[in-house]
Amino acid sequence: MALQDEIARRRTFAVIAHPDAGKTTLTEKLLLFGGAIHVAGAVKSNKIKKGATSDFMEIERQRGISVATAVMGFEYAGCKINILDTPGHEDFAEDTYRTLTAVDSVIIVIDGAKGVEAQTRKLMEVCRMRKTPVIVFINKLDRPSKEPFDLLDEVERELRIRVRPLAFPISNGPTFKGVYNLYEKHLSLFTSDEKLTADASTVEIRDLQAPELAQHIGEKFAEQLRQDVELVEGVYDAFDREAYLRGELAPVFFGSAVNNFGVRELLECFVRIAPAPRPAPTESRTVEPQEGKMTGFVFKIHANMDPNHRDRIAFLKICSGMFERNKNYLHVRSGKQMKFSSPTAFMAEKKSVIDQAWPGDIVGLHDTGNFKIGDTFTEGETLKFTGIPSFAPEQFRYIENADPMKFKQLAKGIDQLMDEGVAQLFTSSLNGRKIIGTVGALQFEVIQYRLEHEYNASCRWEPISIYKACWIESDNAEQLADFKKRKHTNMAVDKHGRDVFLADTSYALALAQENFKDIRFSFASEF
Ligand code: G4P
Repeated sequence: MALQDEIARRRTFAVIAHPDAGKTTLTEKLLLFGGAIHVAGAVKSNKIKKGATSDFMEIERQRGISVATAVMGFEYAGCKINILDTPGHEDFAEDTYRTLTAVDSVIIVIDGAKGVEAQTRKLMEVCRMRKTPVIVFINKLDRPSKEPFDLLDEVERELRIRVRPLAFPISNGPTFKGVYNLYEKHLSLFTSDEKLTADASTVEIRDLQAPELAQHIGEKFAEQLRQDVELVEGVYDAFDREAYLRGELAPVFFGSAVNNFGVRELLECFVRIAPAPRPAPTESRTVEPQEGKMTGFVFKIHANMDPNHRDRIAFLKICSGMFERNKNYLHVRSGKQMKFSSPTAFMAEKKSVIDQAWPGDIVGLHDTGNFKIGDTFTEGETLKFTGIPSFAPEQFRYIENADPMKFKQLAKGIDQLMDEGVAQLFTSSLNGRKIIGTVGALQFEVIQYRLEHEYNASCRWEPISIYKACWIESDNAEQLADFKKRKHTNMAVDKHGRDVFLADTSYALALAQENFKDIRFSFASEF
């Protein structure tokens, strides 16, 4: 198949949600439809259960599973679909944000009883920034839910995006009857014994006035549906795919993932409307997927679970051209040529060595500690993909060596964990002490545990009071030098030697911004 055709049939996306909304369940049902798995439950355990935040075995288990489910590929209706998994726990939100740089669209799952929740709002911010097309799936309609029109308003208001329902529920909770597909104009009836299969009963009803409708759902619900659909068509403009692709309009589906309900409607519409791989920005130019030469970037690095093999898997998103096994590629940051004898692709929970991959695909590369998040591979051009964020850490601690004999192991462990994007390292200009900054508190426990188990090193944490770390830059060299001198006790450098101001309080930060107008304070650094 030609490059152009391979690109056109690829759909690379992520399912995102507030924890417990049903992301794992929906992902699993999509895989069932794609025939990638045959029984429910295969992906189910892919999350840290509530209350297990200090259970290290649980963290390790989660990491093990998340390698297997990091990318789940399957074929459906002639499309090659790649679902990129995102961790549910909010302490790992950074990982989710980075994964969002590698997708071309997302499906947002919302709990119909709870509506839009905090994590959904944050994730939507990232999608908005990147103009990622989103589809909304309102889940758990088999439970008493908010009214559909209220939910639509809430999504529009809270996620700040225009909506257009493409399916509409018939009641909810104990009287949930099914979903009317406004896109295809047919009715899917709800029977809850479809839980484990991909078969749902669908009835084609072109005319909602037909008496047949009441035979299926009863006169009361038939009348309600007619009114609702009339209202939908009156209130909302016709679905505009271009607006969806620009990230301005979200089509909305309703259903019950656990009952496999409304999922087929979602998937069928998804393969039709979701974008194929999109152009990717670099520092020098925009890369088009159809370009003949291969380019790609690393958006995730995962350490091996086996402590005896400290190698890692780097996840490479192909942005253009065709990737080939055993071909030499330029690792732009080091300037070295590298070839890969066993690049892997992911089909559901299976991993296999591949010979070729196309734009939109994710390839697993064996890494012995050379790669970093954001690294670019090309056929020779010096490119650097942009927009891979590193988030402002919110929690800080000094890291101290607890075993003087293991200094080297500790240094190596910290170095590699930082490359994986687990946390960020700062070195104080005042005393040279090392400070670790993370997004969530859980990361400190993860780092300590992994240093011990993977690097045979031990560390100790000591408190430090920092409000925020901000990267500082200025074209006014004099002012920058003056700032650094005056704030000497609060200055540090990051892993790349860039200047970072560690503000003690919000007041100190506001004052610094007020007094040093030529200095740019940024709260997230791009890799
Ligand atoms: P997450 O990945 O977004 O965190 O959510 P997950 O899919 O694990 O779903 C969270 C809980 O919601 C699960 O129950 C799941 O079974 C349930 N759920 C998902 N979709 C639906 C739905 O359409 N209707 C109803 N009623 N429940 C749904 P749990 O009790 O936490 O887990 P389990 O013991 O059922 O596996």
